[in-house]
Amino acid sequence: MRVGMLTSGGDCQALNATMRGVAKSLYKMFDNVEIIGFEDGYKGLIYADYRMMKSSDFSGILTRGGTLLGTSRQPFKLMRVPDEYGLDKVESMKHTYRKLRLDCLVVLGGNGSQKTANLLFEEGLNVVSLPKTIDNDLWGTDMTFGFQSAVNIATNAIDCIHTTAASHGRVFIVEVMGHKVGWLTLHAGMAGGADIILIPEIPYDMDVVVNAINERTKRGSRFSILAVAEGAISKEDASLSKKELKEKKKNGMVYPSVAYEIGAMITEKTGQEVRVTVPGHTQRGGEPCPYDRVLSTRLGAEAARLIKAKKFGHMVAVKNNEITSVPLSEVAGKLKTVDPDGSIIKQAKMIGISFGDK
Ligand code: F6P
Repeated sequence: MRVGMLTSGGDCQALNATMRGVAKSLYKMFDNVEIIGFEDGYKGLIYADYRMMKSSDFSGILTRGGTLLGTSRQPFKLMRVPDEYGLDKVESMKHTYRKLRLDCLVVLGGNGSQKTANLLFEEGLNVVSLPKTIDNDLWGTDMTFGFQSAVNIATNAIDCIHTTAASHGRVFIVEVMGHKVGWLTLHAGMAGGADIILIPEIPYDMDVVVNAINERTKRGSRFSILAVAEGAISKEDASLSKKELKEKKKNGMVYPSVAYEIGAMITEKTGQEVRVTVPGHTQRGGEPCPYDRVLSTRLGAEAARLIKAKKFGHMVAVKNNEITSVPLSEVAGKLKTVDPDGSIIKQAKMIGISFGDK
């Protein structure tokens, strides 16, 4: 049994823990297993940059963040575009797979990586994939590994801001990762007791945000905390077409990110002092939390079971707290977004959290 393995796209906690789960299960299931690790994601598969792994490589890595194989972003939309030397990347990946006589390719990746995994399956390779991302935006799974660890870090940032915000009586904005979806901001915001949460799925009205801050001030609160997703968007911007928005940003881009823009508007409209904190890539760093260690171990074991059962073209997944799998063809190209009318939003609103919408 020869299995290729790669980690692709932005990293997250528990990539190593997941590979350990797959490898340990494979070594137990088969008498003779060889695992080949591709360096830096699909790049390693395209350019045949790989190494033979030893079972000892998968020991002592349960708690280690990052990825021992390295990773890179290889956009799906460029997969069919030849590289600078005219190399056909898809053909090249198929060639590497065949030359190495692989029985299966294991892909740990997020949205774009799952699309490429599906493409390779459609091209005839045996592929099994695992759901990685701090964004928790993969369709077909209730949970991705990395998400809970990132929630812990973003929550910790908000917790720390709470004490200093209270001392100074300021408005603080914590910008949380997530350009397209707001799961991380929503969970960290609720866990950290944010007063206002702004996510891409619920376009905000600046007057409503300002009103929520003024109301708190009137009630005697010395400070307000906003958890703002990287992709938070105003109602006006949300009504523009993609092209119009791009044009607007190109011409009027004066702030480093949305949190700074919102901060400037709050100061202008309330006269309050505002500070912005961007935890950035710390949210993807450090060791996986215990939840992610358990999740990735379970997902890894299930991926090995799929390989043994020759059930290829699937991504392992979580559904209703059970580990299962979904066809890659169903996952590819779909995002799991926050439902603005979902129960978690309703409950957050019931306790007084403002989403800037009404
Ligand atoms: O998809 C994971 C993620 O961390 C997003 O939350 C974030 O917007 C993006 O990656 C950052 O990408 P990069 O590491 O390429 O700057």
